[in-house]
Amino acid sequence: MRLFVAADLPDAAHEAVAAAQQRIAASLSGAAGVLKWVRPEHSHLTLVFIGEVADERVPGVVHTVGREVAGKPFEITLESFGVFPPRGAPRVLWIGVGAGTAPLADLQREIAQRIAALGVPLEDRPFHPHLTLARWRVSRPSDRDRALKASPRGVIARAIVGGATLYQSRLSSSGPSYTALARAALRPID
Ligand code: 2AM
Repeated sequence: MRLFVAADLPDAAHEAVAAAQQRIAASLSGAAGVLKWVRPEHSHLTLVFIGEVADERVPGVVHTVGREVAGKPFEITLESFGVFPPRGAPRVLWIGVGAGTAPLADLQREIAQRIAALGVPLEDRPFHPHLTLARWRVSRPSDRDRALKASPRGVIARAIVGGATLYQSRLSSSGPSYTALARAALRPID
């Protein structure tokens, strides 16, 4: 089963992301290569990409992610657009996190440690919080600047993060589908 954990964002944040996508798409009007926009309800602020896990290990992951996390809900801002990879033909247009990166990284570390403690191997890439807005099907290096110039400046959304959710991801020719399997809520310790 293919699994990942993403921070919980309110609907208003997804709506703001959708509005930003529409602004960028309108101002580009096809001028930055062939972009496929991520459906806003499918865009995730991924904390831990677990990947393919043997079925017998899934209950352990569900159980460990489903425990509360000690800590207070916190605010993040979604702002600053970027492109992966940093050079050459762009593949992914994303929006980053401004305020709140420290508590977000704490939540990321806690969840990653819980999963790693089960012996599930995780990627050890540095955590780079982002929401993918679009992927290029075809691109040239010059498309990077066109896309970034078309992206709105400033804070796109403020959101309170109250926890994280474990998702099953199913990929198919009609697009991905995601099913929530467990939730780790942030709870202040008295
Ligand atoms: P992305 O939006 O930047 O592609 C489900 O695939 C989620 O896991 C997506 O939000 C995706 O991030 C993220 N993810 C992180 N690492 C991944 C990887 N190696 N393969 C696929 N998805 C990955």
